Amino acid sequence: MGNKYRKPTTLHGDAGSRCSLSVVVWCLVGCVVMLHFYSLLFDRNEVGGGIQVRLNSRLSLTRELEKIEEESFFIPPPRGKRSPRAVKRKPKPKRPTTIIEEFLDENSQFRHLFFPDRSTAIDPMKMTENDDLYFYPGRMWLDTNGDPIQAHGGGILYVERLKTYYWYGENKDGPTYHAHKRAAARVDVIGVNCYSSKDLWTWKNEGIVLAGEQANLTHDLYKLNVLERPKVIYNDKTGKYVMWMHIDDANYTKASVGIAISETPTGPFEYLYSKQPHGFDSRDMTIFKDDNGMAYLIYSSEDNSELHIGPLTADYLGVTHEMRRIMVGQHREAPALFKYQGTYYMITSGCSGWAPNEALAHAAESIMGPWETMGNPCIGGNRIFRHTTFFAQSTFVLPLQGIPGSFIFMADRWNPAELRDSRYVWLPLTIGGAADKPLEYNFRFPLWSRVSIYWHRKWRLPDGLWIDQR
Ligand code: DGJ
Repeated sequence: MGNKYRKPTTLHGDAGSRCSLSVVVWCLVGCVVMLHFYSLLFDRNEVGGGIQVRLNSRLSLTRELEKIEEESFFIPPPRGKRSPRAVKRKPKPKRPTTIIEEFLDENSQFRHLFFPDRSTAIDPMKMTENDDLYFYPGRMWLDTNGDPIQAHGGGILYVERLKTYYWYGENKDGPTYHAHKRAAARVDVIGVNCYSSKDLWTWKNEGIVLAGEQANLTHDLYKLNVLERPKVIYNDKTGKYVMWMHIDDANYTKASVGIAISETPTGPFEYLYSKQPHGFDSRDMTIFKDDNGMAYLIYSSEDNSELHIGPLTADYLGVTHEMRRIMVGQHREAPALFKYQGTYYMITSGCSGWAPNEALAHAAESIMGPWETMGNPCIGGNRIFRHTTFFAQSTFVLPLQGIPGSFIFMADRWNPAELRDSRYVWLPLTIGGAADKPLEYNFRFPLWSRVSIYWHRKWRLPDGLWIDQR
């Protein structure tokens, strides 16, 4: 396996040759530093609407994004053992015992910490200058009509021709209920929503682009089934927008992918069919379009114990026969894949229903694997924030066109008591520095760069990137 992060091998020989070799090595290092300096000064990057940003400003651009912000909320630990007399007098009140239970408890006195109320909502149409373009992870986020954005488990497609971002996600704007006593909380299938934006902050509702089915009980999109994690990519050959999604029945036993197609990014999408890819169960999933136009499906399989990855057919309407099992036995879901400088990266979550858990970052030189697990990418907040992915679950990673190596990490803060009120946690993700827990070393040098997701209560994209495009 080639390794671009390889440490130079030790040089052998007598004192004289060692000396001349070190001169050569230092000269080479000098040249590399000069070249790097030169490129920092003169390299230019095309940003979305044609704004030019010099690469040498990357450092100052990302400095803000990479600031480490601590969180210090305090939730008192549960009370200790009660005396037998007290137990007799009054049955023990049912109190959450962990922060995650507290998070899941709709009556928790700390509810506002996780789900701030509407008075704090991000309303792009009403924001004062101080709050303009700021993301507030976890707060309610309103569209240009003043309604809460309904695009859960979603992903974003940038359409260069239209200089517009399209955010697709689950519309969960219905009552939350349990299909039976032991079933997970759910909302009937309403459909896939689409929102458009020029600046990634002001979102216009383009409506339901793939609607749930009200009457036909045998239809995959019948309201009592499950439609999750829709993602859309554009096929340059066929000129079609193709949507892939997780299709299931209420008990999650159908475990399939569904495919829909449209002439335009704003639909309507025509639902084609569902299938079990490669003949395997498929639950959480995503699709990824590579620079060469090849696209891939990545899905949790074998009862979520492993992920499978395989190329899509040229029209993106199916999978080919090729498939690799990755992260076998690791029990990961919610995959979000991205690429930087020829290396593939993925963020996944653990499998704990709607409850948050620890994210992991993975890397691979070839998209088909082998994939290595690097560790938890979350930085800042506090220990519990980092161990719960900031109380959220990965759904997509969006590259920031103007700053190479910088991305937006998109996650869902699920609210299983009221799924329609689930929140969005968008945070800066950068690639750089050595990974924490690389499984493999090459010449004692870690193979991969670190993936870091930085907690911020409030943050915005660097100045000048998007503002002129609005
Ligand atoms: C976790 C998945 O990531 C979600 O998309 C959803 O399927 C929930 N499980 C349901 O419990």
